[in-house]
Amino acid sequence: MNHPTNVKKNARINVVLNQQAQGISTDDWLQTEEEKQTHDTLIRFEEQLKQYVGLDEVKRLVKEIYAWLYMNQRRELQGLKTNKQVLHMIFKGNPGTGKTTVARVIARFFHDMKVLSKGHFIEAERADLVGEYIGHTAQKTRDLIKQASGGVLFIDEAYSLARGGEKDFGKEAIDTLVKGMEDKLHDFILILAGYSKEMDHFLSLNPGLPSRFPITIDFPNYSTQELMEMIHGMARERDYQLSKDAEQLVRDHIKHIRVENEATFSNGRYMRNLIEKAVRHQAVRLMKYHLYERQALISLTAEDFKFYETHDKL
Ligand SMILES: Nc1ncnc2c1ncn2[C@@H]1O[C@H](COP(=O)(O)OP(=O)(O)OP(=O)(O)O)[C@@H](O)[C@H]1O
Ligand SMILES: [Mg+2]
Repeated sequence: MNHPTNVKKNARINVVLNQQAQGISTDDWLQTEEEKQTHDTLIRFEEQLKQYVGLDEVKRLVKEIYAWLYMNQRRELQGLKTNKQVLHMIFKGNPGTGKTTVARVIARFFHDMKVLSKGHFIEAERADLVGEYIGHTAQKTRDLIKQASGGVLFIDEAYSLARGGEKDFGKEAIDTLVKGMEDKLHDFILILAGYSKEMDHFLSLNPGLPSRFPITIDFPNYSTQELMEMIHGMARERDYQLSKDAEQLVRDHIKHIRVENEATFSNGRYMRNLIEKAVRHQAVRLMKYHLYERQALISLTAEDFKFYETHDKL
């Protein structure tokens, strides 16, 4: 769909996430072929997001932004004013809760919606912004903003920019970012990500910042059920299947480990590591017993999941 150019040039959106249970999928309200064709971008992204477990807030946000942009287009046809909104975001959540994954999807979504001209994704951290001598930081940060122009600049562990207090160059990086956000030449969306507590503290230290990020998305830890859905999905994607005993073993392990290691547990990443390790163990087992038939190749059994190795990263 085409959008008014003022949306593309200076997109400002102030999304208030509706906390009430609201239909996330559009299946119920896009029924005719014509409607589906008109809103094919939305349908495509909903399909893509369906691959991910949970993330309801993200799924709702995509729909809200889509609806807002579409209504701008309809309002323009009626000669009504179209509103502009800010799209910079804060992502809060523990490791492996999907922040980077979602930021990438959102960059493509904004590109397809013609909010961003390129839709590329740049992931940065403190060292990419902060320099070593006076003046170096501002230059480094400006260069990064320039690179991100037309796309999404995602700064992970953004709270570390405030680490050293007033005298630290991190402060210069924050000031340069704020300036960059106000500079209309650079059409980019800034996403600051990090753990919830640290991000709250960071924002409280920089009173000018919160109002510049009207969209905050919380990425809660996944439940055991969600993590199990995730591992089944990851197995399916790779043409594997968990046997019944493997499923039970992993479920019990996850139940225990996500509570015992609440602060460090790496959610989706832990599941990905588990499956990748199981695939390697299975390969060794199959070789050892010369098992090459289809069902053996597909099946990950309890023996293939080994936990508590000292190098296991939570
Ligand atoms: N909802 C989900 N559904 C399926 N897989 C997921 C989901 N969330 C995360 N994952 C998987 O978990 C892994 C880690 O996700 P990601 O890198 O996006 O997390 P993160 O929040 O950015 O972590 P960190 O804070 O450590 O950078 C990826 O392999 C991703 O595919
Ligand atoms: Mg990440």
